Amino acid sequence: MNELLPDTAPDFDQPVAVLKHCHGRIRKQLATLEKLLAHLPEHGADQQARQAAAAVLRYFEKAAHLHHEDEEQDLIPMLRAVARGEDAATLQALAPVILQDHKDMDAMWQDLHEQLAAIADGSGAQLSSSTVQRFSQRYLNHMEREESTMAPMALRLFDAQQMKQLGRAMQRRRGIEPAASAGVPDVAMPGGSVAATPTTVSVGERVADLRKDYGQASLDEKDVADDPVQQFTRWFEEALKAEVNEPNAMGVSTVDERGRPSSRIVLIKQFDERGFTWYTNYDSQKGKQLNGNAFASLLFFWSELERQVRIEGKVERTSAEESDKYFNSRPLKSRLSAIASQQSAPIASRADLEHNYEDVARQVGETPQRPDNWGGFRLVPERIEFWQGRRSRFHDRVVYTRQDDGSWTRQRLQP
Ligand SMILES: Cc1cc2nc3c(=O)[nH]c(=O)nc-3n(C[C@H](O)[C@H](O)[C@H](O)COP(=O)(O)O)c2cc1C
Repeated sequence: MNELLPDTAPDFDQPVAVLKHCHGRIRKQLATLEKLLAHLPEHGADQQARQAAAAVLRYFEKAAHLHHEDEEQDLIPMLRAVARGEDAATLQALAPVILQDHKDMDAMWQDLHEQLAAIADGSGAQLSSSTVQRFSQRYLNHMEREESTMAPMALRLFDAQQMKQLGRAMQRRRGIEPAASAGVPDVAMPGGSVAATPTTVSVGERVADLRKDYGQASLDEKDVADDPVQQFTRWFEEALKAEVNEPNAMGVSTVDERGRPSSRIVLIKQFDERGFTWYTNYDSQKGKQLNGNAFASLLFFWSELERQVRIEGKVERTSAEESDKYFNSRPLKSRLSAIASQQSAPIASRADLEHNYEDVARQVGETPQRPDNWGGFRLVPERIEFWQGRRSRFHDRVVYTRQDDGSWTRQRLQP
């Protein structure tokens, strides 16, 4: 059992019960805060007070955030994906209130945090009664709201697979690797659920029903960084922090000599003021297309954060030294695969492919050289657009365009 949850917590196969259990723990912490308020004027920051302050700090610094993230990143998006009619309307009204509560409670917590930290280390004995009261009241109302609407809605609308999906996401957030499941396929997180629609409808038809309203964050052209690579760095770090699925996977689109585009996913390996780098086979389809036309576009979609980034520009090869350095950092088997595979060329069978790999492994030993036709491509950006999903398809879009002197201008685009 994870240390962030007590031993008596319900199992993650009942994620709604786990969320409710967390509320019980929050109520306990709030009661401790009340007791601490009464205790301090008489006893100061004595050992009991210090312990109580430390316990409240521990809980709200970590576990409470995870609980909010469970709701913001999983429960609410999953509910949005399945709620219809009255449920959808309730959710539409409720979700912004819940998200605002989280923000406001976080802000109030910042005030309390300082005072509690001082009490915990014995350097202070001040605790603002009004902040504690506001914080407690807000939390109690908030939990009541969730328990009377969202929790019953989830219990009513989620099927077994969706419960499992929610439980697994919550486990992962706490660093617990869920046990492999028997028979239940892994489903995309969150918003991709189609289980509320009758299964007799074909997947092709159901796709049209996948409707998700976005609203976790906003993007203001006044708040973004002057430099788009800095802005990208901010968002990339947030994607890492949010543990989005494959944050470094990006679509790369190139065009052939007839101007016809093709796209594929690759993994970004580096980005800085010079550009955005990935590694591949120079003789692959994308490699050949880039030889003919060096312009390409990259696309990131971080669905959990409701964010998209589009990057366009001209592609160049990384230096041989850079490619060597990255090649040599890869696991041996990946290096051997890169040598053995003539990427994008047809081959008769998997057995032939493996045969080629064995041949290469025998020939090159443990320290293979990077083949000349394998290395990095770096897209030097000329245009970078940041897209943040907002409610009712009224999204935020901010685009940066590189000027001749190397500086960037930025503009808001209509959704
Ligand atoms: C998640 C993911 C990551 C991938 N990463 C790379 C990569 O870093 N480099 C690469 O050459 N191919 C990568 N691929 C495979 C490419 O999508 C593609 O199949 C391959 O590069 C051949 O593309 P092409 O024939 O258009 O050149 C990745 C695929 C996926 C789904």
